[in-house]
Amino acid sequence: MNAEGRSRLDQMPEWTALSKHREQMGEVHLRELFAKDPGRAGRFTLQVGDLHLDYSKHLVTDETLRLLRELAAATDVAGLRDAMFRGEKINITEHRSVLHTALRAPGSAVIATDGENVVPAVQHVLTRMGTFADRVRSGAWKGHTGRRIKTVVNIGIGGSDLGPAMAYEALRAYTHRDMQFRFVSNVDGADLHEAVRDLDPAETLFIVASKTFTTIETITNATSARDWLLSGLGAGQEAVTKHFVALSTNSEKVSEFGIDTDNMFEFWDWVGGRYSYDSAIGLSLMIAIGPERFREMLAGFHLVDEHFRTAPPEENAPLLLGLLGIWYGNFWDAQSHAVLPYSHYLSKFTAYLQQLDMESNGKSVDREGRPVGWQTGPVVWGTPGTNGQHAYYQLLHQGTKMIPADLLGFARPVEDLQPHLVAQHDLLMANLFAQGQALAFGKTADEVRAEGVAEELVPHRTFQGNHPTTTILASELSPSVLGQLIALYEHKVFVQGAVWNINSFDQWGVELGKVLAKRVEPALTEGVIVPGLDASTAGLVAKYRELRGR
Ligand code: F6P
Repeated sequence: MNAEGRSRLDQMPEWTALSKHREQMGEVHLRELFAKDPGRAGRFTLQVGDLHLDYSKHLVTDETLRLLRELAAATDVAGLRDAMFRGEKINITEHRSVLHTALRAPGSAVIATDGENVVPAVQHVLTRMGTFADRVRSGAWKGHTGRRIKTVVNIGIGGSDLGPAMAYEALRAYTHRDMQFRFVSNVDGADLHEAVRDLDPAETLFIVASKTFTTIETITNATSARDWLLSGLGAGQEAVTKHFVALSTNSEKVSEFGIDTDNMFEFWDWVGGRYSYDSAIGLSLMIAIGPERFREMLAGFHLVDEHFRTAPPEENAPLLLGLLGIWYGNFWDAQSHAVLPYSHYLSKFTAYLQQLDMESNGKSVDREGRPVGWQTGPVVWGTPGTNGQHAYYQLLHQGTKMIPADLLGFARPVEDLQPHLVAQHDLLMANLFAQGQALAFGKTADEVRAEGVAEELVPHRTFQGNHPTTTILASELSPSVLGQLIALYEHKVFVQGAVWNINSFDQWGVELGKVLAKRVEPALTEGVIVPGLDASTAGLVAKYRELRGR
């Protein structure tokens, strides 16, 4: 330890040991690792709940994994994990506990922060949400004119949008198919315009989701939605009660906006925005899939929480995934991480993970405020795999970059898929397995030659392989499995933040742009001179005004 806190990560003997080990590995190839150790395919797998993880296609040996676990022990990942689960204020820059795990704990659990057990309040809100969701689903909840609600529009951004929007897509097969669900996030008026243009206000419910209830995009969209509703209904403010509910920690701002706090579903400052879709923020999802399915999802989260909390390091999946990311990011210079789901329903999964990972670990000072001297969070990217295969996989296979990837797939298609489409599922999954194989083992020049390819084309048709992947397989994409997957990634991100000694739970990096946008807006609308505006931005503002005819 040094005077300001723990030892610098890159000066720890465990870090040095990993650097040395990396040097010794040199240009090792996955082909060689499999040839030398045929048992690795069986050994390097884990089962967590319904998730089967195959991590054999990684550039690791037993020794690598041992050294990585030693790094986790030296950086006391388990200590920080236990402090999080205990409700300690590990979000040191905001002086907050980090208790998203309490959102999915059983009702009998006792989890305290500031001396108060938070579990009863969590359960109370879940029950209120359930009653409300059932009323909307059954038609018992009526709009201002007495008609039932047919469309729910969630207005929120970041964690107040990405989670419910992602989970709604993921669990579409479980949703109330006679209702529509839409998600508005962008302050670009086009988003709200497209979401409501074909809707009847008498049958529309707006859910305004905002932890702070001050986020400019959300409040602007919610205000415009209220105008649209009231003018469409030809009604006064009293109509808002039946068409607007709020999800927030800020009851004062909710009532200031004109939403009855009886129609507010609460959560707490110890739930980070990007960790919040299993809180009241998930109300739109709960209306879509019903309270019972929502509870199943929470149970899936909890299963992985318990695994992370109690499984020994050798069997701890989030620990393993976090350490593998550190291995590539810090010792192989990988800059990004691809998440490639082989499921149409997971079309928004990677976008969701982008906030989870990049807002959490996109940091460059450590917990003591000193600049880090090592790489932190990767760029996370990806789209459903089959589509990616016909777009950016070329770069994965034959480009110059090291990009570790996760391949996700399910053994069974969703239950309500039409029978003639079920057969397509094997083709989808064949693609997943083929890609994992091709990325790892490639195709050597000799193999290309043996196919009779002309010599001048051999280099072009060779695949170097050696691209590491984790394959995550589950029987089906159920609510519980989705919860398990999200908790797996949440805790993976946690592990990495703990090792890097950064605070994964603040997001000061989003503030500057917000402040500057507020300053620049009057320059656009009224031509106000903004003091200190740089020459480039001033020129762009002038051009914008000219193009707008101002
Ligand atoms: O600006 C970033 C952020 O604070 C995210 O962390 C958060 O998920 C999002 O904005 C939305 O915030 P709120 O729920 O308070 O509207």
